[in-house]
Amino acid sequence: MKAIYPGSFDPLTNGHLDLIARGSRIFDHLVVAILQNSEKAPLFSVPARVEMIGEAVQGFKKVSVATFDGLLVEFVRQQQAQAVLRGVRAISDYEYELQMALMNRRLAPEVETVFLMADEKYSYVSSRLIKNVFELGGSVDGLVPPSVIKRMKERVASLEAR
Ligand code: PNS
Repeated sequence: MKAIYPGSFDPLTNGHLDLIARGSRIFDHLVVAILQNSEKAPLFSVPARVEMIGEAVQGFKKVSVATFDGLLVEFVRQQQAQAVLRGVRAISDYEYELQMALMNRRLAPEVETVFLMADEKYSYVSSRLIKNVFELGGSVDGLVPPSVIKRMKERVASLEAR
């Protein structure tokens, strides 16, 4: 069974990576799919995100990285995948995830959404908080993969050089 793990991944966090590791143990193939045009002012461009995620998932043989635009279920069909993988951290994620899963089921009844829980040590980690802490000068070490830390530091250096 092939699954698509969609998201903005701006940036990829260790919570995402934990979910990818779990998903790769369940599915024959897992495609991490970055939504294009998800935000007007993203921290990282889509090509930078592709690169960072590619580096972070190098050790997983059954995982690949792609980008998509438009409806997620159309991308799932295009990829000839059968499932969408999503993570739930806390009950607060549930309502939004349920809405999306049911809408996607209405649009493509043959596609199942599979929810997995990342390790509880990442239950408070979100890309939004990572961006906020990073932009205010706080450390995000241990919360995002080394490939992301590297890019964030390069980002700071390039801003300071201006
Ligand atoms: O982790 P995120 O950033 O909340 O991911 C949201 C994502 C990419 C899964 C969602 O916005 C999406 O699937 N967008 C594609 C457009 C689409 O299919 N919309 C209808 C979903 S019900």
